[in-house]
Amino acid sequence: MMTDAIRQQLLAQTVAVREQAYAPYSKFLVGAALLTEDGQVVTGCNVENASFGMTICAERNAVFAAVAQGHRRFQAIALATVGGATPCGACRQVLAEFCDDLPILIVDVAQPHVVIETSLAVLLPGRFKL
Ligand code: THU
Repeated sequence: MMTDAIRQQLLAQTVAVREQAYAPYSKFLVGAALLTEDGQVVTGCNVENASFGMTICAERNAVFAAVAQGHRRFQAIALATVGGATPCGACRQVLAEFCDDLPILIVDVAQPHVVIETSLAVLLPGRFKL
């Protein structure tokens, strides 16, 4: 179980990394913070490109960074946006590669103390499995 202190740290880091997002086209900044099984936090932000299809979401950047650092098991992911967006379908499928279920904490940076909690199993029923 996540302690309150770790939860607060995860939320603070997703809000902070959102500020690093490179989103000059959409102006929609996204922060993601993954809590690894062993209690580390790995962050990611969205990075856009003039060739729009090259854009990568914050969640996938966080997952890929975590895997590169040797982490494949996760306790939770937290996301920060204006408005409290949920992960896109592609990112849900990427998370599902590593997690049967995963708590997803959604923060709207306009009201950072209001945190909505959902989960991967709720957001991605009928996921693709090979
Ligand atoms: N974006 C994310 O980073 N995560 C999502 O789950 C949805 C969308 C980014 C991609 C793009 O840079 C911007 O938000 C607008 O779609």
